[in-house]
Amino acid sequence: MTAKIVVVGSFNVDLTSYMERIPVPGETVMGDRFVTGPGGKGSNQAVAAARLGADVTFIGRIGQDVFASIALTIWQNENINLDYLVQDPDHATGVAPIFVENSGENSIVVVLGANLTLTTADLDAAAERIAQADVLVTQLEIKDEIAAHALKLARDHGVTTILNPAPARPLPPAMLTLADYLTPNETELATLAGRAVTDDVIEMARALLTSDQQTVITTLGSVGARYVQAGKTALVPTYPVDVVDTTGAGDAFNGGLAVALAEGKSLDEALAFANATAALCVTKPGTAPSMPDRRTVDELLQTQ
Ligand code: RIB
Repeated sequence: MTAKIVVVGSFNVDLTSYMERIPVPGETVMGDRFVTGPGGKGSNQAVAAARLGADVTFIGRIGQDVFASIALTIWQNENINLDYLVQDPDHATGVAPIFVENSGENSIVVVLGANLTLTTADLDAAAERIAQADVLVTQLEIKDEIAAHALKLARDHGVTTILNPAPARPLPPAMLTLADYLTPNETELATLAGRAVTDDVIEMARALLTSDQQTVITTLGSVGARYVQAGKTALVPTYPVDVVDTTGAGDAFNGGLAVALAEGKSLDEALAFANATAALCVTKPGTAPSMPDRRTVDELLQTQ
């Protein structure tokens, strides 16, 4: 059966400059290339899930400006359900100026605009759709209370919940409790745990667990992903690839994870699937445009 995924989150237009090396404060460097394209963690995750074959509903807010058309174009091309999208006439569509250097590393500024005007009423209007989903996934480019409300609505209807706590900020335990799966990267894990990024990943993840049913999955870039549950931990390695642009890798991972869990895969299988989705994403420039399709992910999984 087709996986039903609801993504509650952000859309930003990514304004990406490619350069040999990201400048330090006060420095000017020459760029090689500039690209405008669809991004935003929520939308990227929705596009990833749609390309992997899921039936995806995106719930979020964009403006009514020229950048909104970039969002509408990609969502329509990917057959993403927009019944609960709100176009806010008073706020600008989110934007994200991004620097990507030759190593593939990036730095990002997000100006969230309309993303921050998403309301609990917008979510309540979609309650029926959320109730029918297999998995709901949300992130932190919307207000905390809205992400928490989305998780709560899903929880109340027995829908599996994923909280991708990105960009990272400390969150109340009551909100963390609402996530079946928490998916930070190492930096986000340290921020959530109130610890140093050099601290032990397993210990920090354990400190975040709020119940025996919860799983903390820490993405570790080229190493793979480590999951921690009460009484169990394992590292699921990723696939070696030629890195072009790491931007959006976390979103690819979360989109892949949501689809795999919705399809009933075991946690180890789901993480292999999510790792493969992220590995393929970093071989191409951009965020949403670099999300792989199902056939490519399945082929990578079969060759390993
Ligand atoms: O995760 C990558 C995304 O972060 C980019 O698309 C950018 O818009 C920011 O939201």
